[in-house]
Amino acid sequence: MTARRSLLLGCGSYLPDRVLSNDELAERVDTSDEWIVQRTGIRQRHIAAEDELTSDLALAASRSALAAAGLGVDEVDLIVVATTTPDDTFPSTATRVQAGLGMRRGAAFDVQAVCAGFIYAVSVADSLIRTGQFECAIVIGAETFTRILDWQDRSTCVLFGDGAGAIVLRGDSSPDSSGYGVLSTHLHSDGREREILYVDGGPSRSGTSGHVRMNGREVYRHAVSKLGRVIDEALTANRLSVDDVDWLVPHQANRRIIDSMAARMKLPPEKVVCTIERHANTSAASVPLALAEAVMDGRVKPGHLVLFEAIGGGLVWGAGLVRIGVPRHAQGSHCA
Ligand code: ACO
Repeated sequence: MTARRSLLLGCGSYLPDRVLSNDELAERVDTSDEWIVQRTGIRQRHIAAEDELTSDLALAASRSALAAAGLGVDEVDLIVVATTTPDDTFPSTATRVQAGLGMRRGAAFDVQAVCAGFIYAVSVADSLIRTGQFECAIVIGAETFTRILDWQDRSTCVLFGDGAGAIVLRGDSSPDSSGYGVLSTHLHSDGREREILYVDGGPSRSGTSGHVRMNGREVYRHAVSKLGRVIDEALTANRLSVDDVDWLVPHQANRRIIDSMAARMKLPPEKVVCTIERHANTSAASVPLALAEAVMDGRVKPGHLVLFEAIGGGLVWGAGLVRIGVPRHAQGSHCA
């Protein structure tokens, strides 16, 4: 019997209209375009409008992913939203998306693993699909991260942006689906490292949503070593090598971290999807935003093997391997 797996049928994304350049930021805080580009690779970021909530971004990305998959909302029975910037403490942002889509069945919930949230959400949705509990999921990474920035703190406020990305996963048990879809996900956390990246607020601690605080050097050090190890773990678990990887779609935290991952893997830069220059760090949205962009512009094609990795506050980190597209029997729904 062929194991049931989650095929990736479509990707979508949404970026708010407003773009904030480094030069504009330099009018607010003591920084410069040169410093930001040199240390991070970021040139601009998108900022949600005042009346735009995380669920609005997530809803727009979901609609575009459903359209790419060629599916109607009636076929979806699960929504998982990865976010650190939910609309409200409750209800979940996922239930807001469910209502917005007009979906009247199934389940919807949020996953909180900061910048690694999308990989955690894919892992949860994939597990629920593999066990047969759900058939078709929209997995979303969505953030209005700029709402939790201290705009006086130049060491953090220059790094982040807003946006949303989404994918559609559907269960399939046919023999020729083997090797397609989510091959595996690998999740880790280490709660001892809280102090190097956290938010100084929350409903229980202070009744406010707080602001991002970070020891950038320490985060950098952990990112390079932990992401390197989890990439090795993902490849080894699937008996694959770097040569099998068509694309690295990394978390877009810092250009230097991305470059050092690619160098460590000996992966040529042409195989790395990099959006940090235009999107900055959109936390849980960064991987699905980058994936959607590369699928939509035709770089990532059906049959390609994509490696995801991400790390965030906690610390939490993870990686996943996904073969894009669907085998012949399931065509009609396709990744576009
Ligand atoms: N503009 C100008 N100067 C700045 C800025 C800024 N925006 N921010 C910090 N500086 C100054 C500091 O005050 C310091 O000045 P000093 O030497 O006079 O004290 C100097 O630049 C060096 O500061 P560092 O923090 O040591 O700079 P560093 O070279 O480490 O770069 C950075 C900072 C880019 C944050 C780096 O540590 C990094 O990339 N860390 C990884 C963390 C990361 O990517 N976080 C993203 C969120 S977490 C995640 O998604 C995983």
